Amino acid sequence: MERNEIKIGLFGFGCVGQGLYDILQQTPGFKAEIVKICCRNSEKSRPLGNEYFTFDKNDLLNNPDINVIVELIDDAEAAKEIVVGALNNGKAVVSANKKMISENFEELINLQNKLKTPLLYEAAVCGSIPILRNLEEYYDNDLLKSIQGIVNGTTNYILTEMITNKISFDIALAAAQTQGYAESDPTMDVEGFDAKYKLHIIMAHAFGLVIDPANIINIGITQINEFDIKYATEKGLKIKLVAHAIKLKSNKIIALVIPEFVDSSNELFQVDGVFNGIVTENTFVNKNFFVGKGAGSFPTASAVLSDLSALSYNYKYEYKKRFQAPDFQYTDDHLIEIYLRYNQINFNNSLFDEIIEEYKSRQNNYVVGKISIKSLKQLINNHKSDYSVILKNINP
Ligand code: HSE
Repeated sequence: MERNEIKIGLFGFGCVGQGLYDILQQTPGFKAEIVKICCRNSEKSRPLGNEYFTFDKNDLLNNPDINVIVELIDDAEAAKEIVVGALNNGKAVVSANKKMISENFEELINLQNKLKTPLLYEAAVCGSIPILRNLEEYYDNDLLKSIQGIVNGTTNYILTEMITNKISFDIALAAAQTQGYAESDPTMDVEGFDAKYKLHIIMAHAFGLVIDPANIINIGITQINEFDIKYATEKGLKIKLVAHAIKLKSNKIIALVIPEFVDSSNELFQVDGVFNGIVTENTFVNKNFFVGKGAGSFPTASAVLSDLSALSYNYKYEYKKRFQAPDFQYTDDHLIEIYLRYNQINFNNSLFDEIIEEYKSRQNNYVVGKISIKSLKQLINNHKSDYSVILKNINP
């Protein structure tokens, strides 16, 4: 099969952009060339000659020598303008910007359909793990029951450091930043927003469901304290930030990002450090488990390379489940079992459907109980700090 030659206009030359440049240098068999790079800061010194760089986006978007725009910038609003401009100009796009994609998902899907120009974003979800194309192609049927996993490298790195190596949250976060794992605003990572954007994208490819991301509850890891870690380690458990999209017996879909106690029988138990892990459950094959580095320059750039290669043979997402599959509905009306540790707050006990265990001491108290996702949203809206929530069990 004849493959298209890829002529790249690259936006952003940070951690991932430079990684892509390096990887392309080492894959001479793949016909792809970076024609021009657009950056924001004209003062920075760069490892490539000035002739590569421009500071005007139109030098890329209107350049007839460029057929693919690779968007690897941080600013989601600027990224959206670039992506829409490129698609409208008939240029295929590769992006790693999960926030931008998630926040404009419906519009971007419709635009691709209308213009018949592809936008690929494997690098936006789970770094080096090829999950989106697997969901699109291999799981191209109604048999998928759930997809659950660690989708944020920074928080997994921090939790591993805190639990296994007894390092403080602040030091672990600083190390994740130094290694290029964290978002430029690390709140996105540690409060679970980054994981939520990824889960939102996963849901579209897994179940054909695009909902308002604001509906998806995201609880981060900032409130986890030493008491929680002691509770986990005494029971041989680890705490992981896990994203869940599960089809219930009623065929409705639940989605949440929440810290979770995982035991050694769970595949995610062994996924430590910057690694991500995804477990899919299928009606006839029980489970599949995907693992790989979820953040950092080369893992992310490798996923970009794979998208570029896919474009060279005209691959595009068809969103088959969205357009052909049964219409799944999202629900937050489902009971989950959580551990809620609190110090001072007077939380509303009646939000729980059932209290299974209660512990009180001078400083740390906790309850284990069953609560609906909807009531958990309410609890979190009422109280911003002074407690932690960790998932114990979801029973679909
Ligand atoms: N900050 C993200 C993470 C980068 O830690 O997973 C990769 O998407």
